[in-house]
Amino acid sequence: MGNALDRREFLEKGTAGMLAAAAVATARSGACGEDSPLKPVRIGVVGVGGRGRWHVTNMLTYQENVVIPAICDYRTDRLAMAIETVKKAKGYEPDGYPNGKYDYRNMLERDDLDGILVATGIDFLGRISIDSLAAGKPVGHEVPGCYTLEECWELVEEHERSGKHCMLLENCCYGDETLMILNMIRQGLFGEPYFGVGSYVHDCRYSFFEADGTITWRGELWRDAYGCNYNSHALGSPSKWLGINDGDRFEYCLSMQSRPAGAHAYWTEKLGPQSEAAKVDFKTGDFVSTLIHTAQGRQIRVDYSLACTRPYSRYYLLQGMNGCFDSRTGMYLHGTSADYNWDPVDKFKEQYQHDYWRTDGAMAKKAGGHGGIDYFCIHDFIKMVRTGEPPWIDAYDAASWSSILHFSKLSLDRKGGPVEIDDFTRGKWKDPNWRQGRMA
Ligand SMILES: NC(=O)c1ccc[n+]([C@@H]2O[C@H](COP(=O)([O-])OP(=O)(O)OC[C@H]3O[C@@H](n4cnc5c(N)ncnc54)[C@H](O)[C@@H]3O)[C@@H](O)[C@H]2O)c1
Repeated sequence: MGNALDRREFLEKGTAGMLAAAAVATARSGACGEDSPLKPVRIGVVGVGGRGRWHVTNMLTYQENVVIPAICDYRTDRLAMAIETVKKAKGYEPDGYPNGKYDYRNMLERDDLDGILVATGIDFLGRISIDSLAAGKPVGHEVPGCYTLEECWELVEEHERSGKHCMLLENCCYGDETLMILNMIRQGLFGEPYFGVGSYVHDCRYSFFEADGTITWRGELWRDAYGCNYNSHALGSPSKWLGINDGDRFEYCLSMQSRPAGAHAYWTEKLGPQSEAAKVDFKTGDFVSTLIHTAQGRQIRVDYSLACTRPYSRYYLLQGMNGCFDSRTGMYLHGTSADYNWDPVDKFKEQYQHDYWRTDGAMAKKAGGHGGIDYFCIHDFIKMVRTGEPPWIDAYDAASWSSILHFSKLSLDRKGGPVEIDDFTRGKWKDPNWRQGRMA
């Protein structure tokens, strides 16, 4: 991929163009409800499939003063599309890094990047994030995050060594309802919370192969990494609600899965029993249930599948000593709800809606992206890069949530036996206030 400008020229001309574009963005009314001009933030993006390209659009259109000087993807068609997106939106052309799976390391050497956003498949999310921190650049990486336990530890260690922040871009934690529940927990409405459920049941079997029959990273994940291998959409909110890494921590887990049959059935029906796709031995069970016990005696259940025959479904539950939120049933608060009946969740919105949605919900909905949750997630990422403030979903959350992939697999190997979970905070979790004052 030829770059339109050589690097020096880009830095000289491009920066002027970018700053002009940024000034226009600043002049527009505050995208995030902030009316003061903010300094431009320069983001390098790695991985511009559907998700990465959406992040590019989101950052340039709905976040304030974001400049994208460089983009990396070894799939040149996608790289070209992303560069074109920036050009159309802002009038400058980012440098492209198309040369294989490690070209991002050349991009990380640039001194005109304030932060990195990673939206590759799971096989590279952890590696690129660790390398970004090592290069002194704050990083946000897509879910599900690190692939191996070693990467989880490296991420934490590199964060601590470099002093740079890492944010897991878990958008589902930013839902209107899920943030409201967090707000209500903080105000004590549920009493002591002790049980949470999160789920991610999303039939993604169509995405296990490319049109030419090549298996994708999602297909490889479903084939090889049996267990709770794409867990943070489900696990994130209950973890935040129960104060994981803030006064509590995951202690051990047990995992079970039903037999793997759905992916095979799907591809057999689609391409025939003799097709290569139908011959793949997918090892992840059709439904994976994981129970996590915490150091404070609380419990989280994660229901997970990418291979169930049903429409998209993501449900949550929070049980406390004084009441319960069940996204499929409603809310019950002792002393508030009448006659031991469920109340509609919306009844509580006027009083308890989280500030993010109260002040900026209209903009989030306009931006779209899973109903607006992407807007808040990327807003926090940009804020982290711009201000150096620690993110709400930091390296410790990223490591502990992602590690469930590894520990659930170990539990399955032991027929559902309990598996101890590493403490990535090394005991800091015992102080519920050690991470106070962060975003959200
Ligand atoms: N939070 C959400 O709601 C949400 C939604 C969709 C996808 N995702 C996540 O976003 C990520 C991307 O998803 P997608 O659907 O766009 O996947 P995709 O496979 O379509 O795109 C990934 C892109 O990354 C590129 N890539 C992979 N490794 C690379 C490397 N080492 N260097 C440079 N480029 C590399 C690929 O060529 C590809 O273009 C995944 O981690 C996925 O789990 C999150």
